[in-house]
Amino acid sequence: MLMTTEDEVLSAGNLRGRNLTGITDLTREEIVQVLKHALRLKANRQHQRVHIRPMLGKTLALVFEKPSLRTRVTFEVAITELGGSAVYLAPADIQLGKRETVPDVAANLSGWVDGIVARTFAHRTVTDLAEYGSVPVVNALSDLEHPCQALADLQTVAERFCDSENPDFGGLKLAYIGDGNNVANSLMLICAKLGMAMTLACPSGYEPDSELLSLARHEAAAQASNIEIVNDPGKAAIGADAVYTDVWTSMGQEAETERRAKAFAGFQVNAELMSRAKSTAIVLHCLPAHRGEEIAAEVLDGPQSAILQQSENRLHAQKAWLALTL
Ligand code: CP
Ligand code: NVA
Repeated sequence: MLMTTEDEVLSAGNLRGRNLTGITDLTREEIVQVLKHALRLKANRQHQRVHIRPMLGKTLALVFEKPSLRTRVTFEVAITELGGSAVYLAPADIQLGKRETVPDVAANLSGWVDGIVARTFAHRTVTDLAEYGSVPVVNALSDLEHPCQALADLQTVAERFCDSENPDFGGLKLAYIGDGNNVANSLMLICAKLGMAMTLACPSGYEPDSELLSLARHEAAAQASNIEIVNDPGKAAIGADAVYTDVWTSMGQEAETERRAKAFAGFQVNAELMSRAKSTAIVLHCLPAHRGEEIAAEVLDGPQSAILQQSENRLHAQKAWLALTL
């Protein structure tokens, strides 16, 4: 028998009150629970937003040190559709760590709101908000991880390749081409935990975080899967079910733009690279994208692209997380 969204929220005791500072916080079973809930919320969106309001009377603070389109809008819409309210605090409003210390901000916010969604430069800011506050914290992108993105990404993969009631990623392969950044770190961890093989092609010196890589390899081995790092994009793309890329210069790294453009030459996702992946492969990009740099327009806007489904899924994955935890 299908569980209703209400049943699933009621059975989510293990996730209630939890932080999401990174994919590191989640077990394989918890990730599957969030993905299944996201798929159901998406299928039942009209019914849910009228009848199921688990955040009624609750308010979240959205603390952003960096710009955002997708993350800000999808969190605000998610909170509204779940019956709650959001207070958005732009980079200039709080000036985290400058006007006021992070522990003081966390303690003050905890007296007013039911949770904090934070987009930060230093990952430490997210973990400090969680440590010094008394309400759940969600990482909306830090320099180390982008867990909400990874949940939406794997939801998109599940929609294309898996049974929604029993998503099984075994036997699937994701190729990530480019910078071993926050998006790559979270993607590597979620693929490892779900048993989806992943090959990252990064220029030398731009590999993912070494501690997270060790952790991901350990998790992948437990699922009889593997995480591989290569320097050749063509090799990474062979036989892939999904090909993913992100910008070469992330927010906060603007001074390195020129150096990075040189280092990443040859790491573009284009039609030639896609010809090495499976013919059924999808193309993913967290966005914003730079056409003609990390990805060719013909691929980003072509028939294999799943980028808009992926960006829509930010809404459903985050709604699932909020519904299950708050
Ligand atoms: N993918 C993503 O996080 O987009 P924004 O930076 O626009 O939020
Ligand atoms: N790696 C990018 C992702 C943007 C959503 C950045 O951190 O800027």
